[in-house]
Formats: sequence, C-alpha cells, structure tokens
Amino acid sequence: MLRLDTRYLPGFAEALPAHREALLSARERLLAKRGDRAQMLGWLDLPEDTETLRAIRRYREENPWVEDFVLLGIGGSALGPKALEAAFNASGVRFHYVDHVEPEPVLRLLRTLDPRKTLVNAISKSGATAETLAVLLIFLNWLREALGEGWRRHLVLTTDPQRGALRALAEREGLRAFAIPEDVGGRFSVLSPVGLLPLAFAGADVEALLMGARQANVNALAPLEESLPLKTALLHHLHRHLPVNVFMVYAERLRYLPAWFVQLHDESLGKRDREGKRVGTTALPALGPQDQHAQLQLFREGPLDKLLALVLPEAPTEDLLIPPWPGLEEAGYLFGKGLFRLLKAEAEATYQALAEAGQPVYALYLSEVSPYAVGWLLQLLMWQTALLGELWGVNAFDQPGVELSKRLTREILAREG
Ligand code: PA5
Repeated sequence: MLRLDTRYLPGFAEALPAHREALLSARERLLAKRGDRAQMLGWLDLPEDTETLRAIRRYREENPWVEDFVLLGIGGSALGPKALEAAFNASGVRFHYVDHVEPEPVLRLLRTLDPRKTLVNAISKSGATAETLAVLLIFLNWLREALGEGWRRHLVLTTDPQRGALRALAEREGLRAFAIPEDVGGRFSVLSPVGLLPLAFAGADVEALLMGARQANVNALAPLEESLPLKTALLHHLHRHLPVNVFMVYAERLRYLPAWFVQLHDESLGKRDREGKRVGTTALPALGPQDQHAQLQLFREGPLDKLLALVLPEAPTEDLLIPPWPGLEEAGYLFGKGLFRLLKAEAEATYQALAEAGQPVYALYLSEVSPYAVGWLLQLLMWQTALLGELWGVNAFDQPGVELSKRLTREILAREG
C-alpha cells in the first residue's frame, strides 16, 4: 500500500481541483500515445508480462549453481536492479555491479571470483554503451580462459530484441539472451528482464513486485482525487520554480533507490521544451537517518529552493528490541523500544522540522518495505515522470545529452587509433 500525505501543504487541496483539466488532459495525451511503439510507453505493460516472468524463473531453476552474480551495465541498466536487489536479496547469492570502468575495482573483483560459480549478466538496451562493452570484453575473455568452451553457460545477455552488438553476439555464439522490449527505454526498464532476472537470482518475490506495479497502474487511472501520480506530478508542477527536488528515503534497504530516482527524473525532464526553453529540476538523493547528520541542516535552514519528498515506511517487516543496560540511563528513553520506533520518530521529526522551517515537503508512506509496496512506488514514480513530461512539454523518453556524450567518447578513442 502507498499513501500520499500533504498535511504540511495546506494550499494543495485547493490547487488540485483548479488543475483538474490540465492533469486529466496530460494523462489522456499520454495514454493516446500508447499504441505507437516509437513513443516508448512499453513500461506501462511490463507488470502484465507473466510470460517473461515464467521464462526467467525457468532459467533461474536451470542454474542453481550460481554463487556470484556479476551485473555489467550502467545507468538504467544497473540502477534499478541494484536498488531492488539491495532491498530484497534473500538467496545468499552475492551480487557485484560493474557500472564503471575503473581498472582497480574490476581487477579486485576478478581476483576474488570463482568463474565456475559465477554468472555474468551483461545488460545494455542499445548494445552500444562503451562502459558496458569494455567490461563485457574483459569478462568474456576471463570466462573463456578459465572455462574453455563451457564459458557460454556463464554469460547471459539482456538487450534489445533485435538490434545492437549484444543481440548479434547472442546470435553468433548461441548465448542465452532476454529481451528489453523495443518500446522500453533504459531508465523505465526496471520491471523488464533488466531488473527481474537479477531479482530472480536474489530470491526476491518478483510476482509481488509486479502485482504492486499493476496496482500502481490501476491507481494512476483512478479519478483525480485518488490518483497518486496525478497528485504527485501536480506537487512537482506547482513547485517547478524551486530548482531542487530532494528524494529522501527512510529505509536502509532502499539506500540505492534515490540514485534510481535521480536518473529517472533528471534524465527524463532536464531538457529543452518544444519552444527550445531549458526546463527541469535537479533531483537530490538523501537517506534517513544518515542525512539528518549531513544534509538536514541545509534542508532546514539553507535556501528555500527545494521541494522535498520523503519516502517513509509505516511498519517494519521485522523489528528488534533495544534492550536496557544498567548504568546507561542516558539512553533510558530507548530501553525496551523497537528499533523501528526510533526510525519512525526520526522520520516524523524530520518531516515536521522541515515543514516548520517553511520548506515545502510531502510524504509518501509505504505500508512496509515489501516487494509489493516498492513495485507500486517504482511504477508510480515512472507515471509521475511521464506526466511531468506532458505538463512541461518535454519528451520524457529521449536523452539527447547522454547520446552526445556516448558519441564524443567513441570519437575521442577513435582519433587515438
Ligand atoms: O535511460 C537511458 O536510456 C540511459 O540512461 C541508459 O540506461 C544508459 O545510457 C545505458 O544505456 P544502455 O542500456 O543502452 O547500455
């Protein structure tokens, strides 16, 4: 379950009906594009794709020997699986993310892995990303040297159904490959095999994750007063003059979620609108309670240039009692309380402190940090982003700035010969 709380934004209740027409027409425009694959709205259908889920489950069952799972990918091809695996890994399989090209950590990883127990999953929608291709070549070579012809069983690819270097490699070498639907872009792909395959190896409840996302789809289409993404999109729209959007999560298990959101928000919305005007706000990641001891001072007393979204779990999935200790009376107010009670008190204190300081802040309450609630949250945030694209007149699904830096990297290396 997910719940939006706007208790500290009293004007919001009036703003909602005043923006009814703009919001409903943004949603209609988005849905009208659904039939056209070039519009990249395939992420809306991913929660229904039970066939892919079955294939992924079968593949997981066929490979019980995996002890180390190495994910090669970057941006949308790494941030989602990393966020979800950190939250829900229940299998004991160790995960390693090579979403960089710094040689030392790659070497350190290669030195610790046993290739016989390692599965490498290279993920790239385009199959043309230099970072991913470079480390794929290194791991291909490492597997072949260690395992001879047996290397093929240790590599699985996740890529475009037809195009790109990874698809070509899969076909040439007869490798197992899962498809990212043509109409699903990188940062909207977490519920495709990009996220589901690693999660199957993590032993997470993938079905519940997709169920939550399906519920988010149902909720997104609900009347305005009940539709969470229409409301959160309006919150961001009303505060678009504030350059910074803080996304602060009070759950250690969700520590990588803010990075996923930053990419989704910044890469989708930071661009020129149809008139050529620069638009966008900067998403800033934050984690509670750690950032109470780092960023909160600025959030509370620094410039009033931020809209803050807090993601707060309402209940723990398990709790731990803080035991008393004779002589440590200074901590007496904690004795006998659940650790979660402290976390919740800190989150509520932050929420209140920010509001009292005049910072616009709202909360998204998760019933708990479960795959169902998080699946709902992910899909809600994708809806929010797509709706903001409509409201701000930008294409939320392209990334010309990213493509340019990829092209320039290739050109620099090609010039060097
Ligand atoms: O959202 C996007 O499309 C990008 O950020 C990509 O995820 C990122 O550039 C990696 O691209 P690819 O999956 O094609 O390797």
